[in-house]
Amino acid sequence: MLVLAGGASAQDAQARLGAALIVDSEKGNCTICHAIPGLGIPPDAQGNIGPALDGVGSRHDRDWFIRFITDPRTTFPDTVMPAFGITEGLIDVAPEYAGRPILTPDEIAAIAAYLETLQ
Ligand code: HEC
Repeated sequence: MLVLAGGASAQDAQARLGAALIVDSEKGNCTICHAIPGLGIPPDAQGNIGPALDGVGSRHDRDWFIRFITDPRTTFPDTVMPAFGITEGLIDVAPEYAGRPILTPDEIAAIAAYLETLQ
């Protein structure tokens, strides 16, 4: 079970939802490429295709995370990181995702809330 420090504010609840989406293989599945702390997954069971996200909340703010997760090509045009929030201009889209993004705007905002806690 995932436990985050702090009280039960709405923001904590959103971050907890974000953490669940990050590890969900049908949703973010972010740990396949990134080592992300606080999720109860040993580092050697997480990916290293992308950079470890320790302390990432001190380098970027929530708006940046939302923009980046929606389409990371705005920052890294040739990145292998999927564009989680758009449906236009993609290649090799699995049939079950055709016409809909992998993550909804609410789901992306929840993931951004979790990443913000990584100070
Ligand atoms: C297929 C691998 C892959 C997946 C899946 C992936 N990423 Fe990434 N991500 C990368 C790579 C690679 C980079 C580095 C940018 C580059 O050079 O392409 C990156 C960069 C980032 C950064 C910027 C880090 C920094 O220090 O500035 C963040 C934040 C991030 N990813 C979050 C996520 C989140 C959240 C998810 C899940 C919703 C995710 N990534 C899924 C590969 C991936």
